[in-house]
Amino acid sequence: MGITFHEFYTVLDCHRTGDLQRLWQVARQVAAKEEKVGHQKTADQLKALIQQAGSRGMQELPLPKEAQPFVKLANPSCAIQELLAPPFVVNKLKEVIHEFRNREQLQIYKLRPRCKLLLYGPPGVGKTMTARIFATELDLPLVQVMTAKLVDSHLGGTARNLTTVFELMESRQAVYLFDECDALFARRDHSQSADREMARTLSSILNFIEEWSNGILVAATNSFQTLDPAMHRRFDAVLEYALPTPAQAAQVFKNTLQDCGLLPDLKSTMSELQCFTSQAEIRQLALDAARALVLYRVPILTTLEERQVTWSE
Ligand SMILES: Nc1ncnc2c1ncn2[C@@H]1O[C@H](COP(=O)(O)OP(=O)(O)OP(=O)(O)O)[C@@H](O)[C@H]1O
Ligand SMILES: [Mg+2]
Repeated sequence: MGITFHEFYTVLDCHRTGDLQRLWQVARQVAAKEEKVGHQKTADQLKALIQQAGSRGMQELPLPKEAQPFVKLANPSCAIQELLAPPFVVNKLKEVIHEFRNREQLQIYKLRPRCKLLLYGPPGVGKTMTARIFATELDLPLVQVMTAKLVDSHLGGTARNLTTVFELMESRQAVYLFDECDALFARRDHSQSADREMARTLSSILNFIEEWSNGILVAATNSFQTLDPAMHRRFDAVLEYALPTPAQAAQVFKNTLQDCGLLPDLKSTMSELQCFTSQAEIRQLALDAARALVLYRVPILTTLEERQVTWSE
């Protein structure tokens, strides 16, 4: 039976764009077809190859040497259900995931999935976590771009470093996280020569982002106000992350204890945690309470009382 022209074309296109996930999807389709027409041996050979590689495994190819000083590669594991954020945010993330999974269907109508997100909000509310969720849900590697390292005081240095990262982004499909992106995207005062250079660099970033669609791009910042306003419209969505509501805070607390295999006896008593702090800090509080329980038998509620955190039923 062999492969059709369309399949061959897709394989070449996957090679061009580095879309290994789609490549293995085609391989799975061909294996299924071969099996259907009774070519069991060919199907088994293909399936063995797919299993050996694993779509994600194949994406763990080493990063090019030139890019290594500026990026970190990870394969996180974090489901969307773990994120406790405003419903508007969670729904938007689910839409982005759904569109990416169905990008071929969109492509038929010359549509592309929304894939560029700008996230802002206080520290510890789930911005970095969101990039990890995309990588997990879409089975893509996470490439964390170390934004501060890209900035180089030598003339043309930042632009050169950026070109290296852009080349990687074109060749390797992944979730790209630009954490603390204000280091690059901040509004510039054009009267200083260093700032003039940065302004030129910024405009090349804007052009690049506008054209790019090889994965998911997450840019995160704590200081939204300092960003150049021209940034906003290059992104498909600009999302504000917030401190948790008391009910979400309680949920983060319980989930953290459950992750440690501790089934808190708080289930019936505590429904809301009155502490006006970030999800990350609540997680730390829960871990402290868990340690105190395991090592010193201090009840969870006692730790909460000691920290002057109140709860309600
Ligand atoms: N919205 C959330 N829901 C559930 N857990 C959360 C949430 N936000 C943060 N956490 C927990 O806190 C950890 C740290 O959060 P994260 O690194 O995503 O914060 P951030 O918003 O990127 O902060 P920063 O601005 O300091 O980079 C997460 O790995 C997760 O365990
Ligand atoms: Mg972060």
